[in-house]
Amino acid sequence: MAVGGQRIGLCGLGTVGSGVVNIFNTHGGLIRQRCGAHLELTHIGARRDNPGCDVGSRRVSRDIFDVVRDPDIDIVVELIGGTTVARTLVEEALEQGKHVVTANKALMAEHGNKLAAMAEERGLALRFEAAVAGGIPVIKTLREALAANSISGIVGIINGTGNFILTEMASAGRSFADVLAEAQALGYAEADPTFDVDGTDAAHKLVILASLAFGVPLDRDGPFTEGIDRVAPVDIDFARELGYCIKHLGIARRQSDGLDLRVHPTLVPATKQIARVDGVLNAVMIEADAVGEIVLTGPGAGSLPTASAVCGDLLDLGRVLSRAPADPIPILGIPTSDLRSLPVVLPGDVTCAWYLRLVVADRPGVMAEITRLLGDSGISIESLIQRPPKADSSHVTVVMLTDTVTGRQIESAVADIAALSALQGGVTTLRVESFEEA
Ligand SMILES: NC(=O)c1ccc[n+]([C@@H]2O[C@H](COP(=O)([O-])OP(=O)(O)OC[C@H]3O[C@@H](n4cnc5c(N)ncnc54)[C@H](OP(=O)(O)O)[C@@H]3O)[C@@H](O)[C@H]2O)c1
Repeated sequence: MAVGGQRIGLCGLGTVGSGVVNIFNTHGGLIRQRCGAHLELTHIGARRDNPGCDVGSRRVSRDIFDVVRDPDIDIVVELIGGTTVARTLVEEALEQGKHVVTANKALMAEHGNKLAAMAEERGLALRFEAAVAGGIPVIKTLREALAANSISGIVGIINGTGNFILTEMASAGRSFADVLAEAQALGYAEADPTFDVDGTDAAHKLVILASLAFGVPLDRDGPFTEGIDRVAPVDIDFARELGYCIKHLGIARRQSDGLDLRVHPTLVPATKQIARVDGVLNAVMIEADAVGEIVLTGPGAGSLPTASAVCGDLLDLGRVLSRAPADPIPILGIPTSDLRSLPVVLPGDVTCAWYLRLVVADRPGVMAEITRLLGDSGISIESLIQRPPKADSSHVTVVMLTDTVTGRQIESAVADIAALSALQGGVTTLRVESFEEA
């Protein structure tokens, strides 16, 4: 360890890595002052230069593993992404006795238990503030500021690309594919946007939040996951008419029978603060017993916002390590040996209200039949919109909001409705979050 300070080695000089270099270039003096000790970015591992940042006189290695093996480096920052090379890199850094800071949610969600245990055994830090909600300090809030609370739930808009797409669809009535193409052109969505669109990215982040909030191991396969690609502009319009916005939410709630972990498009009352978080912004609402409900909002991605979180971790570590040899803050909020699994509640057992949209033949008795089938599954209709048929059509569009029922009840009723000859196409189902239990 460097005497009187910490030396940082950075692996990956892409969007976030270049942001970290830029922050050290502009705020190096401020960081040292606030840290109260020397904290220097001295070695960068990058396969190629990045014209978006000036590395100055810092040592640059084309092999990122040279950074990990550099005896002068105390803290390794992993910003390459993915779960293969990144995992080897972080494991090797810990084996070499280096502290690690990462922004890699996929790595934490999939291998975080092992990495946290490795770091803990060695008295090393593993910090990952930037892995969830980019620039929003939600990890620090859960692990430190709210450490004296029992947390009952977390509801978040935790994928900026998804929120941008839904916001644009809502404000301009554009199609999903059209807005996705623009998000890619603007650099919000990855070249391969699969994880943003299918909910995997949000699920990774939810897994991390659930572990910190509820003291459970990181369980990549825990959340029920649906993407935004199942939302059509017509659903956004009907939701608005009913007083709701459609948001892609990650929801983690502690229930008497286990953990409710879900990521899916959700109807949210338009009056809720989280419904007004638009564009690439993220928001995380935390329901806790002492503090009550808080909402953190801000940029969930981008070079400088994400680098701000990485640098916050580095500064924090610099402060701690200049006074003590180890990180005193447990990596997952509590020692890894104290983490306890809780059963994950099956989607069929989770209760909420539902939005249903269907197109049916415009003839007497059809609505009565649908109402009966819903009633047979114990489901009541709270609101109903029926659009008169267009001049050249013999079908009507029907939208219903149900009362609060289980996923299993809806599944059974939808299967019955799907068998009706009067139905054209399928039944669109979306969950409604009323926040009443919060
Ligand atoms: N971008 C965001 O807004 C954001 C927000 C929150 C968290 N994150 C997380 O931050 C991490 C970095 O994301 P990013 O957006 O900065 O990615 P990026 O722009 O694609 O940059 C990745 C960097 O890592 C290098 N790299 C990748 N694989 C490598 C390998 N096998 N060996 C050596 N170098 C390798 C790349 O080099 P080449 O250029 O040579 O390929 C590039 O310099 C990811 O874990 C991501 O999930 C990103």
